[in-house]
Amino acid sequence: MPQFTDAFAREFYYLRLSVTDVCNFRCTYCLPNGYQPAATTNKSFLSLDEIRRVTRAFAASGTEKVRLTGGEPSLRRDFVEIIAAVRENPGIRQIAVTTNGYRLARDVARWRAAGLTALNISVDSLDPRQFHAITGQDKFDQVMRGIDAAFEAGFRQVKVNTVLMRNLNHHQLDTFLAWIRTRPIQLRFIELMETGDGSSLFQQHHISGDVIRAQLVQQGWQRQARARSDGPAQVYRHPDYQGEIGLIMPYEKDFCASCNRLRVSAIGNLHLCLFGENGIPLRDLLASDTQQPALQARIAASLGEKKQTHFLHQGNTGMTKNLSFIGG
Ligand code: GTP
Ligand code: 5AD
Ligand code: SF4
Repeated sequence: MPQFTDAFAREFYYLRLSVTDVCNFRCTYCLPNGYQPAATTNKSFLSLDEIRRVTRAFAASGTEKVRLTGGEPSLRRDFVEIIAAVRENPGIRQIAVTTNGYRLARDVARWRAAGLTALNISVDSLDPRQFHAITGQDKFDQVMRGIDAAFEAGFRQVKVNTVLMRNLNHHQLDTFLAWIRTRPIQLRFIELMETGDGSSLFQQHHISGDVIRAQLVQQGWQRQARARSDGPAQVYRHPDYQGEIGLIMPYEKDFCASCNRLRVSAIGNLHLCLFGENGIPLRDLLASDTQQPALQARIAASLGEKKQTHFLHQGNTGMTKNLSFIGG
């Protein structure tokens, strides 16, 4: 089966697989009222065997990188087995997780031993009180210990995700920069996206990443070239810093031109984009190994529907209720 490709000649070699909707944090921009089971579905999350089958089908069509997302993926009791199952695919060279960091200090060494190669951790503030206010959890110290544990477990670099919010954290650039001066962290400022649940927060706190970009450039930070399997972050480096900065600016006009990822939700729907569609069910083709050719064929055929862009820059926004069910 050839590489998954869409009508705009974009190749998809990066799968973002959500393994649960459940999250134990209540980030204001994502789940301000905490996790609520969706009234519209009582379907259970993908089983280990279904995860094995879906990743095998993607790997057989050119997927090289799988990111496990959620909700909070590490809340799955079988999370270590999930990592190991994804690793079984010889074509998958990178297995990453995006996590709120809650379980890092306890479990990161086991994740690494099972085959995890990359970690992205959400940290929206370096002030413990503000961290608590944004996430609903007084776990700043625990998450920081988790980042230390990741380095001790052998990760040479970790990425940290910070959602940029006007008047909350956007003026704390110097604090963040001091933090990464001697740490091999890629700190990514993510522009707040408007979700269905997050309109008023967006009106109050959205700020363009341009503000940070201008400050960085003025201080001598330099833009780096993008590698093929990288996410959408624009990466900046500075000779005085061990860490890097990544800017994720989804409202920029050309943000989707380099899209290289597909998403599968925790109930087994294929999502061609973070915004604007309901998902194509795959679960009926995940019951046995013999269905793999049909599964690959359905995914390949669906790609014809993938739109050129999410059109966020043209005001097409807010259709996705929140990002926790699809893993951002
Ligand atoms: P790397 O694979 O390490 O480069 O990371 P990544 O940026 O692909 O993954 P991560 O889970 O850390 O993504 C961080 C955030 O960037 C997500 O939660 C989203 O907010 C945003 N993001 C990532 N991919 C997309 C995308 O395709 N579209 C949009 N609109 N936002 C995205
Ligand atoms: N805008 C931008 N990023 C978001 N995330 C969740 N909701 C939003 C939103 N509305 C992202 C953050 C977080 C990750 C798990 O999901 O990057 O770190
Ligand atoms: Fe949980 Fe992540 Fe959403 Fe925060 S952003 S509530 S940690 S899923």
